[in-house]
Amino acid sequence: MARQGIMISLFVIVLIVSSSSAAEILADEPTYNVLDFGAVGDGNTNDTQAFVNAWSVICLNSTVPSTLYIPTSKTFLLDRIVFQGPCNNVIHVKVDGNLKRTNEIWKENFNSWLLFIQISGLRIYGSGELDGQGTNWWSCKEQNQCSEDAPDSLQMLSCTDAQIWGLRSINSTMMHISVAKSERVDIAGITIVTPDNSPNTDGIHVQESRHVSIRDSIIGTGDDCVSLSEGAEDISISNVTCGPGHGISIGSLGKNGSRATASNIYVSNCTLTQTTNGVRIKTWQGASGFARNISFVNITMNDVRYPIIIDQYYCPHSVCDAQASAVEVSDVKYIGVTGSSSAEVAVALNCSQSVPCSGIVMDTVNLWPANEGEELRSHCIGANGSARNQVTPAVPCLTQ
Ligand SMILES: *[C@@H]1O[C@H](CO)[C@@H](O)[C@H](O)[C@H]1NC(C)=O
Ligand SMILES: *[C@@H]1O[C@H](CO)[C@@H](O)[C@H](O)[C@H]1NC(C)=O
Ligand SMILES: *[C@@H]1O[C@H](CO)[C@@H](O)[C@H](O)[C@H]1NC(C)=O
Ligand SMILES: *[C@@H]1O[C@H](CO)[C@@H](O)[C@H](O)[C@H]1NC(C)=O
Ligand SMILES: *[C@@H]1O[C@H](CO)[C@@H](O)[C@H](O)[C@H]1NC(C)=O
Ligand SMILES: *[C@@H]1O[C@H](CO)[C@@H](O)[C@H](O)[C@H]1NC(C)=O
Ligand SMILES: *[C@@H]1O[C@H](CO)[C@@H](O)[C@H](O)[C@H]1NC(C)=O
Ligand SMILES: *[C@@H]1O[C@H](CO)[C@@H](O)[C@H](O)[C@H]1NC(C)=O
Ligand SMILES: *[C@@H]1O[C@H](CO)[C@@H](O)[C@H](O)[C@H]1NC(C)=O
Ligand SMILES: *[C@@H]1O[C@H](CO)[C@@H](O)[C@H](O)[C@H]1NC(C)=O
Repeated sequence: MARQGIMISLFVIVLIVSSSSAAEILADEPTYNVLDFGAVGDGNTNDTQAFVNAWSVICLNSTVPSTLYIPTSKTFLLDRIVFQGPCNNVIHVKVDGNLKRTNEIWKENFNSWLLFIQISGLRIYGSGELDGQGTNWWSCKEQNQCSEDAPDSLQMLSCTDAQIWGLRSINSTMMHISVAKSERVDIAGITIVTPDNSPNTDGIHVQESRHVSIRDSIIGTGDDCVSLSEGAEDISISNVTCGPGHGISIGSLGKNGSRATASNIYVSNCTLTQTTNGVRIKTWQGASGFARNISFVNITMNDVRYPIIIDQYYCPHSVCDAQASAVEVSDVKYIGVTGSSSAEVAVALNCSQSVPCSGIVMDTVNLWPANEGEELRSHCIGANGSARNQVTPAVPCLTQ
């Protein structure tokens, strides 16, 4: 309990002083430099074993909060690494150098390149870059020679009280950052750069996790900017700039008839530029569970194809039969959603007839066509709720 109290007050101080001075605050900690464990950092030497050795020492031997330091102006070539916890004390991983994945298509079905698992109080931060070297893997997938699954660059699994701050991530083979089965995670100041045609390269993905904030980040990628999947609860996304990519998604929920829930989600102050979707909730048919208490506040759309979507018929690959059950969508608010849409149907509430969407609130939604001379419209089935102040294009199924 005492440690948690210290953690929280440190966190508050860092927020007030701004995260750039985090380095000074932590400077007094014992520091374990990967170079002292044999890492070379010339971009060609396989430094995996040196990192594994450094981790096992810092994780098992630290008696006080300690820093694992990855120095600047170097590039470390790394194969898959599992940073296994629990650790003896709080670990801060300061990534100022660059980490590059060995450019191979793995035969084994690993979910991640850099996996941090079962760690409490972990902070990964710095000005370094993660390079997933995904190009070959993407083309392998596109030629159907590789399965859909490729490793995520940075995965946090079963962690609590964690932070990921300031890193840059490029060309991940699949998702850039994924958080699963974790609680109290703060992700901030991240920059993600990936081509818009790279498959499944979600920027930040969260599932089966609670109390997660994602803020002050810039994400350009080939799939969802941020995706929140089953078990996402109490998630805040603010000041995130998206594009290119598929926008901010909740879902897809309920694949293959499963039960899925997502709730208490607050998305604010985000800007989407030339993304295929804006803010989207997508669920599969034949599933159960709920997506509720979701707010989108102060969202700017620049030339976004489908700014507002609820799609309870999500089915990207094959033909899906109509089914009676669905993930129930309720209490979804769109407040201050403004900007341009490049497709005609700017607002699509495509809800299940058997399990309708209820409590949809739109307040000050103002969308206009990105291309002059066009006109926008909405499409709405199986949804109810209310429209307040200006809502353009009008959404007839919501009562004024
Ligand atoms: C890199 O080193 C690790 C640890 O020794 C080893 O498991 C892995 O196979 C090596 N990878 C390559 C591509 O040589
Ligand atoms: C870490 O602790 C183990 C067991 O206590 C010990 O054998 C080892 O020498 C320590 N390593 C370092 C680098 O301190
Ligand atoms: C990232 O991938 C793109 C597309 O394959 C490639 O053009 C670019 O050079 C890659 N970036 C780096 C730093 O390798
Ligand atoms: C929003 O995020 C950007 C980084 O993407 C940052 O420079 C800016 O200061 C943030 N704005 C606020 C109000 O925190
Ligand atoms: C879908 O669920 C069924 C039973 O619920 C299971 O047998 C099947 O393996 C699942 N398919 C996939 C792709 O998960
Ligand atoms: C809805 O979610 C917000 C967080 O976004 C939370 O503060 C609020 O208590 C939730 N409301 C209900 C009724 O659960
Ligand atoms: C969003 O930006 C406004 C200023 O425009 C600020 O007052 C508010 O705190 C921001 N919201 C969040 C959640 O950061
Ligand atoms: C929305 O933006 C307005 C104007 O910038 C700001 O005053 C307000 O605080 C913002 N609201 C939220 C909830 O961020
Ligand atoms: C919503 O349904 C309409 C009519 O079936 C369809 O034209 C449109 O493409 C759907 N939109 C989405 C985002 O699924
Ligand atoms: C909206 O739909 C829900 C679920 O079908 C229903 O319980 C509720 O009464 C409806 N509300 C209005 C105002 O029609």
